[in-house]
Amino acid sequence: MSLLEVLGIKTELVKVGQDLVQALCRGMEKAGLALEDGDVVVVSESAVATSEGRVANLEEIVPGEMARTLAPRYNKDPREMELILQESDQIVGGIPGVVLTMKKGFLYPNAGIDHSNAPPGHVVLFPKDPQRSAAEIRRRLGRGKRIGVIIGDSRTHPLRLGCVGVALACEGLEPVEDARGERDLYGRELRITRKAVADNLVSAAQVVMGEGGEGIPAAIIRGAPAEIKEVGGEIPKIPPKECMYIGALQTAPRPYIGGYDHLLEKARQALQKAYAPYSGFKVGAAMLCKSGAIYSACNVENASSGADICAERAAIARALASGEREFQAMAVVGDCDEPIAPCGICRQTLIEFGGEIDVIMANLHGKAVVASISELLPLAFTAASLERKESPEL
Ligand code: THU
Repeated sequence: MSLLEVLGIKTELVKVGQDLVQALCRGMEKAGLALEDGDVVVVSESAVATSEGRVANLEEIVPGEMARTLAPRYNKDPREMELILQESDQIVGGIPGVVLTMKKGFLYPNAGIDHSNAPPGHVVLFPKDPQRSAAEIRRRLGRGKRIGVIIGDSRTHPLRLGCVGVALACEGLEPVEDARGERDLYGRELRITRKAVADNLVSAAQVVMGEGGEGIPAAIIRGAPAEIKEVGGEIPKIPPKECMYIGALQTAPRPYIGGYDHLLEKARQALQKAYAPYSGFKVGAAMLCKSGAIYSACNVENASSGADICAERAAIARALASGEREFQAMAVVGDCDEPIAPCGICRQTLIEFGGEIDVIMANLHGKAVVASISELLPLAFTAASLERKESPEL
């Protein structure tokens, strides 16, 4: 049987600039706790940052032009937006109230800037260099004992409510263990499993640390299945395109999995009629209108190549000339190796009738992908772009 103990270290309120290690030592002494070889100490990120003076008084922040422009977009206080810009490497996006930022290859909401556990009128920033802080705390707190130190924070999981623990920095133990090669219950080899040991330990510590009001900024974990090492511990990361969430959210077009087979067939039939004596490249397109009607067409070439008409625009023209104005989906089929990608002019012509139109792009060999026209033409110039609040100066 393996036993894991989590012992909270209660301290007085850690004030800005106050020595955190001394406060932890006093707290341990008061509770009759002493560190042992093999212990892992989890320290809350906000306590580390506060003791390092990494707090900001919002009254003293003067938002720059970019902060003032971006603040309303994310419904943030312009001064806080200014701090977010100063503290992050990249703004990935956001929703009202939360700006998703990237810093040294990690994602953080609002660049890690926190109102909770901050002195009145202040916000707490991240420690300047969490790895260095962890090493320093380990050296001073351990006093000859073989311990590990993790600086812990809270994070959420996509589409899940509630915070769990995450390690910002880890010293003296391996933060992620490779479980590949181990066997599952049925003897099958595990292929991708890696254990986020440090994150799990932060979650365990948070069970006794609470969210701050408890005055327990750290916890000792005794009996953790982690080997204490002299060096190492930097949190490993993976590039965005290898990340399941970031990768999945950025991969339009998606594979076509059905729903428009009939429309694709109409486009394929139209391709057979292509007039393409110059390029030999045959294309067919079929437009499904909201009325249910389908209009298909092929590309029409010309000795003067500038007069060529793509299949997509020919199909749109047929639909419009029949009185249709609302469209659901367009299928395009090309005689090519990969699914055809509509040209820029056709994308512009399609988006005139709404960004939600599905575009199913295929070849003659059954390969097909799908994307909405607004995914195919981001930042499009449309009728809305022509609207101006003030009348144009002549
Ligand atoms: N073409 C289309 O009809 N649709 C596209 O999406 C790409 C290109 C045609 C135009 C021309 O007849 C030929 O393909 C080669 O450019």
